[in-house]
Amino acid sequence: MTEKVIGIMGAMPEEIGTITALLTDIQTFEFGKRTYYTGTINGIKTVLVFSRWGKVAAATTVTTLIHEFNITELIFTGVAGAISPTLKIGDIVIAGRLIQHDMDARPLMQQFEIPLLGITYFDCNKTEVEVAEKIVTELTTHKHLEALIDKAELVKFGIVDPQVLVGDVASGDKFFSDNIHKEGLLAELPSILCVEMEGASVAQVCYEYSIPYTIIRTISDTADDKAANDFPSFIKNISSKYSQEIIKLYFNQF
Ligand code: ADE
Repeated sequence: MTEKVIGIMGAMPEEIGTITALLTDIQTFEFGKRTYYTGTINGIKTVLVFSRWGKVAAATTVTTLIHEFNITELIFTGVAGAISPTLKIGDIVIAGRLIQHDMDARPLMQQFEIPLLGITYFDCNKTEVEVAEKIVTELTTHKHLEALIDKAELVKFGIVDPQVLVGDVASGDKFFSDNIHKEGLLAELPSILCVEMEGASVAQVCYEYSIPYTIIRTISDTADDKAANDFPSFIKNISSKYSQEIIKLYFNQF
């Protein structure tokens, strides 16, 4: 049987910082301006890396994880902007499907269709989604959350009972920071819960190499004109702690 090697990608350096603390026997490797941290968590071989931002950065990073480190599964944690009006800052979205909102090869093919794959949405496996749902539901219980994050920080961001949703995530090379673009995306893709800049490219590479993947996104902003204000302090005080705990809980299942 192939040995399990879990790849962990994070879209923010702060998240990687908190997760390296979980690794035993750390070694570092440099490829293409990325640092890959190898080691074990709960005895399981693990490779951790900061993906950088955007679809190309994430796709090259996951390809390196596959070719150089032989990962057998991938987990990606990061933040996203809320597109669905039902989402609030601090809620967590587990991708059920991912779409590249900036892929448009019309009139050669339908808008959003990935050329040559004939795929528009990348589906995540039911098993991976169910595991993620269990972990994130545990993380968002009052008891767990208050042990993890200062009450003052939770109050500051208005985080009371975070929702956990499974659904459609859109990715593309754009940070959404105004209502016009947000509403435009919602009009084109009404089922989208949130937007980020890496997930669907990671999903494409994993699909092409048959690697199971899990993509978990914490809502850091509302993808409108307030987006840039909320972002830095949310990463530092909330999402980097969420990410570390998600990874801890993920490895506890083994
Ligand atoms: N990641 C986090 N917030 C985002 C936003 N508003 N747009 C795109 N990616 C994001």
